[in-house]
Amino acid sequence: MELLYPVESDIEKAVKILRRGGIVAFPTETVYGVGCDAFNEEAVERLYELKKRPKDKPLIVGVGKVEEIYEIAEVNEVAEKLIKNFFPGSLTLILKNKKIPSIVTANSDKVAVRMPSHEIPLKLTRKLDKPIVVPSANISGRPSPTKFEHVISDFGENLDAIIVGDCNIGIESTILDVTVTPPKLLRPGAVSTDLLRKLVDLEVGKDLFGQYEISVDLFVFTGKGAEEEIKKFLKRRKNAVVIARKNIYEGNVIEVGETLESYAMNLFDALRKAENMGADVILVEGIEEKGIGEAIMHRLYRSARNVIRV
Ligand code: TXA
Ligand code: MG
Repeated sequence: MELLYPVESDIEKAVKILRRGGIVAFPTETVYGVGCDAFNEEAVERLYELKKRPKDKPLIVGVGKVEEIYEIAEVNEVAEKLIKNFFPGSLTLILKNKKIPSIVTANSDKVAVRMPSHEIPLKLTRKLDKPIVVPSANISGRPSPTKFEHVISDFGENLDAIIVGDCNIGIESTILDVTVTPPKLLRPGAVSTDLLRKLVDLEVGKDLFGQYEISVDLFVFTGKGAEEEIKKFLKRRKNAVVIARKNIYEGNVIEVGETLESYAMNLFDALRKAENMGADVILVEGIEEKGIGEAIMHRLYRSARNVIRV
């Protein structure tokens, strides 16, 4: 496994690895991704195995140019409007598939497509001159990685290369199925539902994606009384770690910062750190469900053993 850096010579190396069917992890503006040539079925097969990903869970395809979307999928009017407004960026559209191999789409006739705004995946797919798959670079079920160290902690030496660099948002892309009317939100994410609603009339899916396996019991506290409730809890349970916006508690606290943006950027790192502190419970201060706060709370609910609303 090679560690590469965001310099031209290393990007070239990474493209060579992709060209010969290798697997490379890289930062994107949302979270770390791990990819290969979307048309190399053997490489995709190996990627499923390395991620321990169930074969019925399809992969997102990442493109470097808008024209490419029209080649691989059917773009209807709603899709066109969203592509004009949000691509490149952190929105994934589910479209009718034209060309992507069935192993990538898990035999569905639909394909998930996004065009990252981060320069590293853009350069990789453009220089390869093919789409690449862009799933999050974690073992299936683990929290998404936002730093190269998280990728190493999940995969060890098993990938062919990891490009070291920064993610910018910290939460995965928003997934919207535009093959149905009205379009259906399948995963809240980096592009807020409010922003999407300004352009399209959407319906929130009943069965949203996502489930994170945290190895320590996690309790989420929401509402006006959250701080007081966490303080009370800490008096009874000493071996706890708190994930909070600022350190107002006694004992172990991991700060995620006071803005929605800093909370998003630090959340997955905080969850991984908290797991490694030897605590027997993780207590998390929730945040208001507006803007990216909606996606943050969705990830927390999907990680929690218990949600305490006070
Ligand atoms: O921000 C992101 O989207 C990151 C970065 C690295 O690109 N990727 C990411 O991929 O979050 P992943 O594999 O962790 O999540 C993709 C989700 C999965 O829940 C998968 O089931 C869904 O997208 N998906 C992919 N293709 C689909 C399809 N054809 N139909 C329905 N859902 C699909
Ligand atoms: Mg994932």
